[in-house]
Amino acid sequence: MARLVIVSNRVPLPSERGPRAGGLAVALADALRPGSLWFGWSGRRSAANADVRLQRSEGISFATIDLSEAEYRGFYVSFANGVLWPLLHFRLGLVEYRREDYEAYRAVNRKFADAVAGLLRPDDLVWVHDYHLFPLAEELRRLGVRNRLGFFLHTPFVPPALLHALPRAAEMLRAMCAFDVIGFHTHSYQRAFLDCVREILPVTRIHEGGFMHDGRHVRAIVDPIGIDAKGFAEAAVQAADSPETLRLRESLSGRALALGVDRLDYSKGLVNRFEAFGRLLAKYPKHRRQVSFLQIAARSREESGSYQRLRRELDRLVGDTNGRYSEFDWVPLRYMTTTVRRQVLAGFFRIARLGIVTPLRDGMNLVAKEYVAAQDPTDPGVLILSSFAGAAEDLTDALIVNPFDADEIADAMHEGLAMPLSERLRRHAALRERVWDTTASKYCATFLAHLQSDETPVPRLRLQVAS
Ligand code: G6P
Repeated sequence: MARLVIVSNRVPLPSERGPRAGGLAVALADALRPGSLWFGWSGRRSAANADVRLQRSEGISFATIDLSEAEYRGFYVSFANGVLWPLLHFRLGLVEYRREDYEAYRAVNRKFADAVAGLLRPDDLVWVHDYHLFPLAEELRRLGVRNRLGFFLHTPFVPPALLHALPRAAEMLRAMCAFDVIGFHTHSYQRAFLDCVREILPVTRIHEGGFMHDGRHVRAIVDPIGIDAKGFAEAAVQAADSPETLRLRESLSGRALALGVDRLDYSKGLVNRFEAFGRLLAKYPKHRRQVSFLQIAARSREESGSYQRLRRELDRLVGDTNGRYSEFDWVPLRYMTTTVRRQVLAGFFRIARLGIVTPLRDGMNLVAKEYVAAQDPTDPGVLILSSFAGAAEDLTDALIVNPFDADEIADAMHEGLAMPLSERLRRHAALRERVWDTTASKYCATFLAHLQSDETPVPRLRLQVAS
């Protein structure tokens, strides 16, 4: 069997198993057989050099390179997270484009390509992850690499009207087309990508799920990422008696728990969510003293101005809400910005009556799936889910809300708190089926099957000429 080479910006190094690359590491666990290689940034900044460092753990090799301070700022902070991230989350107003950052992004992709090319064997399958590495395949092809190259985007993709705002969008899109397979979480992201290809690239023959570009077939697939549902459900049962869950339960004094778990990111809709919780208490006073909302928002990308501004805004809102509604023995909104381990979170999810997942945009959102998996099937909680999370394409039995409407979220919180057991059971059974059906291992198997098969479908080709 061909060796699998994973490339991503963050690498779950065995020496520092952090929560950051955790999600991807869990999702790819099934694909990572002994012998596989994972390449990416070490997470370290050092004087520019391109030395590749190798670590091995359980038969898997982890190869990393450092970035210089200038590369880190230009590539990671400014272009990947200051241009691509807001753009892909439909936040044009937050995009801060500078040409030199784009050059740094391209240069780091070249640096990655040089290092990866040096490690590749002719029949390796290469699977690249996320928006940090859009041009990687083009750089690898330039170096003569002929391996099958796959790419998966973990964020949404935007329609042409938005992509046009990215300077040199055509160049970026063309670079993406050097991959053989490009994966998205949902049909709507796949459609948006194909619309961009159709509109922005000069001549492309497009058919359902793929197109010809530069004489090569590029396949665009839908492959929703999932979790290890069974494993997470078991972890939740165990964690329900963990010291942390017991402490949390005790602190609630019999009140219902509403829970949100996110990175502290403007795409997560935290401002609207906090406002919604305030409105719940204002509109439905009977919930006062009866519910506590715990928001865990792990700090993220702190060197970026938009994240610093968000944090200040949330600090203000939390203070405002608690100042307004707290009583001497009840604080309505608990807010922490540190990271909590997944094992501990599993127990928190299990005892939460409401799971609140209301991003303004989100590629998939695995918290929604983890919340469902963690529930007690005989007394499940209620998932409140944004219609703009990728997970909403599948988890249609959640209470689906428009995250821009704080009143709608507040009404859903009220509905969830008042929901009779029979309805909770019905909704949860349907959600559970979906989560058990779109697991991490299915995600990997589907992507790798596409990556392995190089047969070009014989579609009904239409000639599309961009206007
Ligand atoms: C999102 C992205 C990942 C990224 C993660 C954490 O989930 O899709 O690629 O690794 O956020 O962000 P960070 O900037 O800390 O890597």
